[in-house]
Amino acid sequence: MQAFSLSGRAAIVTGAATGIGYGIARHLVAQGATVVLNDIDPARTAEAVERINAEGPGRAIADPGDAGSVPYLRGLVDRAAALPDAELDILVANAGLTEFGDFFAFTEQSFDRVTTLNLKGTFFLTQAFARHLRAAGRGGRVILIGSNVGNRAYPDLVAYGMSKAGIAMLAQQLTLDLSPLGITINCVAPGAVLTERTEQEEPDYAGVWAVLNPTERVGMPNDVAATVGFLVSEAAGHISGQQLLVDGGWSAYAPSPQFLDRIRREAKKPEE
Ligand SMILES: NC(=O)c1ccc[n+]([C@@H]2O[C@H](COP(=O)([O-])OP(=O)(O)OC[C@H]3O[C@@H](n4cnc5c(N)ncnc54)[C@H](O)[C@@H]3O)[C@@H](O)[C@H]2O)c1
Repeated sequence: MQAFSLSGRAAIVTGAATGIGYGIARHLVAQGATVVLNDIDPARTAEAVERINAEGPGRAIADPGDAGSVPYLRGLVDRAAALPDAELDILVANAGLTEFGDFFAFTEQSFDRVTTLNLKGTFFLTQAFARHLRAAGRGGRVILIGSNVGNRAYPDLVAYGMSKAGIAMLAQQLTLDLSPLGITINCVAPGAVLTERTEQEEPDYAGVWAVLNPTERVGMPNDVAATVGFLVSEAAGHISGQQLLVDGGWSAYAPSPQFLDRIRREAKKPEE
């Protein structure tokens, strides 16, 4: 079912060759949009574009590159803005890196990798996109992909959680700067989502992680994509600065004593 049409509109989605980003790009193309797919992996980007274009009715265009590189991101916005047949007014900053690691042993290199992509990349991509809309005299929509781990502490994800909390705050801060330009900005924060990466980390990901969710299932890229679809629609024109958790109720409840006991015992264990 086509809820509304994005025909004539262009969007950028970063980290979109696989996983949640791919789901979002596919959803926007299904609504008729022209979507510029960024991913760091050129071969996988080309494959994703081919698969999405086979479905239509909009169109996907590959723009591979590092979404943590500010010069690349500025070029990405310029190229998307120059498309002849669609007006760029949607940004989905989805690319993000998850690095697990014990806080006491976490390295500067890991910290830089996580924050360069998740925080710096998201910040400067949003800046480049907003500068473009300001120059064009047009409003638009920005969606930043956060995480439930930006709201609730999770073992061994300190830098990641911190970066995702920063992304949610970026959306809140920028309502002040972007609302006068007619741009809404929101953070969509997924819980546990089954993707190529999470399935690689845990072959029974859907089974293991569904246990956490009151909805008794794991999240799918389509759950996140449908939320993004709503936030870029006319219906969501008065929603800005919000963080919307798409987590099956994971963040809604308090953990049990057994859970905390296990975490505390593990934290006190000396390094082997
Ligand atoms: N999967 C989950 O359970 C989950 C939960 C909460 C939040 N998130 C967030 O959602 C977003 C997407 O998650 P995912 O699990 O689909 O991601 P993922 O780790 O599977 O990566 C998706 C794509 O990003 C690309 N990528 C990696 N580094 C990049 C870079 N520097 N520049 C451009 N592209 C790059 C990868 O090649 C991959 O195709 C991330 O921001 C992630 O933090 C995911």
